[in-house]
Amino acid sequence: MGVDAPRILIGAEELATGVARLGAEISAAYGDGVVLVAVLKGSAVFLADLVRAMTVVPHVDFLAISPYAPGTGRVQLLKDLEIDIAGRDVVLVEDIVDTGLTATYILGELARRSPRSLAACALLDRRTTRIVPTPLAFVGFSVGTEFLVGYGLDFSERYRNLDMVAVGDIPTLQNDRDAYVKALYGR
Ligand code: PRP
Repeated sequence: MGVDAPRILIGAEELATGVARLGAEISAAYGDGVVLVAVLKGSAVFLADLVRAMTVVPHVDFLAISPYAPGTGRVQLLKDLEIDIAGRDVVLVEDIVDTGLTATYILGELARRSPRSLAACALLDRRTTRIVPTPLAFVGFSVGTEFLVGYGLDFSERYRNLDMVAVGDIPTLQNDRDAYVKALYGR
């Protein structure tokens, strides 16, 4: 028997409305343009829509960091920026801020490079599981503790390309990481 599609938490229309609001907020705050620093890979989908919702020039660059290793923290940059951000206005773009460890680490790295200003934008803010206080100047949606997939968020590299955010059932996915593929992609 096939598995049903996961429950939609934030549908495509609601996401588009939230991203449009964030684009407008960031545009209003940085009239001279801004450097958006996105963290691979999850933020790529959000970033693509965010820049199209902006009405100021976004300079885009990407960072990649070592995979999450509980207890050890994340200390390694796997891919560095190409842009020199000294003296620039910079916004870190994250799909989700959960414990805050990733954003805190990256904000520390960026701050050392003497930007004119530095702020963070998260599409999804999971405040209840925060370990490190993480100031977020721009927030799309507050979410609870459910495991989420879609719109950049993956399970074992699946489901990043959904146009919505859905609640994944971890036991179901652990049993079969492709459990939702048939219901969502029709194959
Ligand atoms: C996710 C997300 C953030 C981080 C947030 O990345 O994109 O970078 O976790 O979690 P934290 O606040 O608890 O540190 P993930 O490790 O899933 O990598 P991915 O973006 O490549 O999927």
